[in-house]
Amino acid sequence: MSSPADVLTERLQHALGAAFGTEYAGVDPVLRPSQFADFQANAALALAKRLGSSPRDVAARIVEHLDVADLCLAPVVSGPGFVNLTLSGEWLAARVAEQAADPRAGVPLQEPQVVPIDYSAPNVAKEMHVGHLRTTVVGDALARTLEHLGHHVVRQNHIGDWGTPFGMLIEHLLDVGEHSAEARLLVDDPNAFYQAARRKFDADDDGFADRARRRVVALQAGDPETLRLWHELIELSTAYFNSIYQLLDVTLTDADLAGESTYNDELAGICAELEAAGIATVSEGALCVFLDGFTGREGRPVPLIIRKSDGGYGYATTDLATIRHRVRDLHADRVLYVIGEPQGLHLRMVFAAARKAGWLPDTVEVVHVQIGNVLGKDGKILRSRSGEPVRLRTLLDEAVERATVVLAGSQPDLDDAARATIARQVGIGAVKYADLSVAHDSEYTFDLDRMVSATGNTGPYLQYAAARIRSILRRAGGDADQIAPVVVTDEAERLLALALLGFGDVVAQVGASLEPHRLATYLFELAQTFTTFYDHCPVLKADDRAVRASRLTLCAATLAVLEQGLGLLGIAAPERM
Ligand code: ARG
Repeated sequence: MSSPADVLTERLQHALGAAFGTEYAGVDPVLRPSQFADFQANAALALAKRLGSSPRDVAARIVEHLDVADLCLAPVVSGPGFVNLTLSGEWLAARVAEQAADPRAGVPLQEPQVVPIDYSAPNVAKEMHVGHLRTTVVGDALARTLEHLGHHVVRQNHIGDWGTPFGMLIEHLLDVGEHSAEARLLVDDPNAFYQAARRKFDADDDGFADRARRRVVALQAGDPETLRLWHELIELSTAYFNSIYQLLDVTLTDADLAGESTYNDELAGICAELEAAGIATVSEGALCVFLDGFTGREGRPVPLIIRKSDGGYGYATTDLATIRHRVRDLHADRVLYVIGEPQGLHLRMVFAAARKAGWLPDTVEVVHVQIGNVLGKDGKILRSRSGEPVRLRTLLDEAVERATVVLAGSQPDLDDAARATIARQVGIGAVKYADLSVAHDSEYTFDLDRMVSATGNTGPYLQYAAARIRSILRRAGGDADQIAPVVVTDEAERLLALALLGFGDVVAQVGASLEPHRLATYLFELAQTFTTFYDHCPVLKADDRAVRASRLTLCAATLAVLEQGLGLLGIAAPERM
């Protein structure tokens, strides 16, 4: 299905061609929603300069050649040379009826691309923090959206599962016993496990630090027993990650794990290849890539270190390996790294080095989807009162608890199981929506009170809007099962129809710009438009049978868009609220 904006753009381009010759066919007519009409075309202003005539005259000539009688009221030239376009009720009604019958609610499929998405990426034996929450939630919304648009998404959970701390962690695991309650901490309270290991390492009782160091060497040498213990650590940590993913209703599974260690065997080759190609050079004992345009203080070049002077590889080398793998083995068309904003320089350098090495052809797009900080109410990075990073599980549990309290008031008759399910959907939906409704690269304040509020631009507000429509449709009984012909007469109906028809464009925009907050804003505005419609246009009590059936179809179409839109954001639309 083509959106109203697409159809109008095509007609305008046609008119430009007819009025000014083929040279002007295909020029972007610059169509924008406006407060004076459904859409305003701005082509005349740009064209007038080129043609050397007045914008209003150019606009008038466009209108003369514009054939939109089948879908618009008469076009009007306004202001300095805009063309105002207002869609007719009949045309909107017919399109909305089509959309109501479309299981995809008007979202077109795109030419499929392969899109690996690097997101979540927590670290083994460590707590996930709010930063991980944000990459997880944003990455998952992008994965769902791009998949829905027809792309082949490859989820890549680049967990931190390698490095020197593993010597200490493995020794601690041996000390406490693999099946002990202390080992279980890895699943329930990973920081407690990590800190216990760290304390022993720092205190260095009974030569613990030495054992830890020897263990790192054994791990790197591939000692089988050491590897077995390392696997045990990964497995317990994965159980922890999965418990959070499940609570969050995130689509990541064990099949998506592709942690740092995945690339161990490739790092030496990467260094050798870059050195042989003259791209990497040894500087002060370390193997470095120097890239144009990356300079620090006093214009001194900043190196990307790919092998430290002690022979160890770091974060940069593994990330070079991720690109090479995603392009060469996964055949990526577009690679997304949904990672914290502070890692921007790291990624820019890695991308540049990969391009230089020929591992990242110009035909492949790589994007750093920057994740901004989450702040506490004091405006600083979110921490608990004791200064520790706040436990993610605690935050999520609290959100669900708040939702439980609200539901006990609003839906006292729910049975316990239904209440638990809906409270989880609402509490988690509130947290996810708060994250997704702001630009992913801006900071936001973690404020549970605001997030769970049923008013304002919140998850519960949208979920409530959907639940209310469900209740209208339930009360309509079987009358709502059929898609009825739609009639659009009232202005509120017209605006609702127009808003509904914008869904496909918005989803496509999210896929292109990788900004889920555009979808959130759209859904919020749609819910408000629906409220105005519902206030002005009686549905169940409509006098006329045909009007009632038409309005029920508008309700059903709105529910479908809300449900699918929230679904693309990874947010459930509860049955009742
Ligand atoms: N594990 C890292 C962290 O917790 C994030 C890794 C992101 N992914 C990547 N390919 N560098 O900060």
